[in-house]
Amino acid sequence: MERLVALCKRRGFIFQCSEIYGGINGFWDYGPLGVELKNNLRDAWWDVMVRNPPPGPDGQPVDIVGLDCSIISHPRVWEASGHVGGFADPMQTCRQCKKLFRADHVAESLAESEWVAALLELCEPGAVPNTWIPRRGELERWAKTRGRKLAPGLAIVREPGLVAGIAEDEHDAPALLTIVSSPGPTISEVRPPCPVCGGDLTEPRQFNLMFETFVGAVRDDEAKAYLRPETAQGMFYNFKNVLDSTRVKVPFGICQVGRSFRNEVTPRNYIFRSREFEQMELEFFVHPSEADTWYQYWRQARYDWWCGLGLAGRNLRLRDHDQDELAHYAKDSGGCCDVEYAFPFSGEKGFTELEGIAYRSNYDLTQHQRVSGVKLEYFDAERNERYLPHVIEPAAGLTRGVLAVLCEAYTVDETRPSPELMRFHPRLAPVKAGVFPLVNKEGMPEVAERIYQDLRRRVGPCQYDAKQSIGKRYARMDEAGTPFCVTVDGQTLTDQTVTVRDRDTGSQVRVASDQVVGWVAGRVRGDDGIG
Ligand code: GAP
Repeated sequence: MERLVALCKRRGFIFQCSEIYGGINGFWDYGPLGVELKNNLRDAWWDVMVRNPPPGPDGQPVDIVGLDCSIISHPRVWEASGHVGGFADPMQTCRQCKKLFRADHVAESLAESEWVAALLELCEPGAVPNTWIPRRGELERWAKTRGRKLAPGLAIVREPGLVAGIAEDEHDAPALLTIVSSPGPTISEVRPPCPVCGGDLTEPRQFNLMFETFVGAVRDDEAKAYLRPETAQGMFYNFKNVLDSTRVKVPFGICQVGRSFRNEVTPRNYIFRSREFEQMELEFFVHPSEADTWYQYWRQARYDWWCGLGLAGRNLRLRDHDQDELAHYAKDSGGCCDVEYAFPFSGEKGFTELEGIAYRSNYDLTQHQRVSGVKLEYFDAERNERYLPHVIEPAAGLTRGVLAVLCEAYTVDETRPSPELMRFHPRLAPVKAGVFPLVNKEGMPEVAERIYQDLRRRVGPCQYDAKQSIGKRYARMDEAGTPFCVTVDGQTLTDQTVTVRDRDTGSQVRVASDQVVGWVAGRVRGDDGIG
């Protein structure tokens, strides 16, 4: 991750937001290459979801329309959706260092904690796997020396005399951590300690993740509004508007791409969990009797789409939720699954969520109908039936998708003169081609400039580079993930061909200079179903 993050900054993919002021946790800016990559991913999604969706389960065309809703909406939207009452994470604070933690992330953070690793080194492994026997003498010495630096909040560091009360028995890790962090000889509180300093954590408290703001000049409760925490609700409160203004019929979908905001307790892992991020969501409205068929359809279609972007293989999987993971709206319905990616920080589980596909029943339309008092029922002329449609929701993270694409593309090949390269799918690559005159004279720049202008017009962003050695120019393009480099050389002037170098293999072919634009365009467009 560290090398990827460094490359992303060096080459202008992602910058820390307001970096010259020290940055702000959970907010990121997309640089010149990053914004192209993000837009390409967004466009690939929009093309395959709205403009040209694959045929439905019965082979018939699928109807999906787009929306672009406000980030701030009527606050009652969020009452109806359940976000005001329930969109919260359990949060714990360390009484010593004052750091905040999501209660459900503490165990994971302890597993990665430096002081926990150091503490376990002071113990003998027990006979039972994953148990440890503390060596009291060493523990006390550590508490008075290295422990003061690594875990100043830990009870046995604050009071090394407590070590005397610790039994030299076999303990598993949670028990051992409880013992070394319990404030007195009697273990009254069985809460894990702070992963950063070893201090005492408070009871978990619910913390609502919505960002609040005020609309208008007066800052009182009446004027309170929220930045949307998901794009989904715009599709529900506009359901009737879409029905009344278009000719769509159930089954049909509404899509939206846009920013969402969550005041995450612990934004982390680069852009993976941010406080401002972008989502790409589809709400697909169906007759209840067809919900399962459409759920299965979208489950597969969404997985296949990510595969088509080059994420296929051992880094991508589809995982059905266990019963106890299901969201409130999905409890009594057909289920939820996630498309998961093996991010480098995914830890023991190995995979983390990239997109969720949920069967939301008719929970949201029911709620908005009840809270707004406006009838949202659909009249199905074919069935002669009036009902609130059920919903299948594939909800993907655009910015999280960018991170998956970056991770998948990042390659180190020590056999190359410049070992780091980004193997983006040509459709996603921020720069489609580099164009170079081999030398900046002898008529080569004129030919190269003409090809460059044509490529920009017909294919997309390209870069013209006439400086430095050809090897250095290739290396710069490899780091930017540019799939093709077109070089005009001495031979061009005699036989009107140019070389085209492939980023991944480094191999070169000669292509007629008047056909090279079409050659690159065909490969960038591809025909692989990603949109
Ligand atoms: N409407 C349903 C919904 O919003 P979600 O699982 O909370 O479901 C959908 O979010 C997707 O949005 C996630 O799979 C993830 O890719 C992305 N996402 C959610 N929270 C995020 C965050 N804090 N930072 C970046 N991406 C996030």
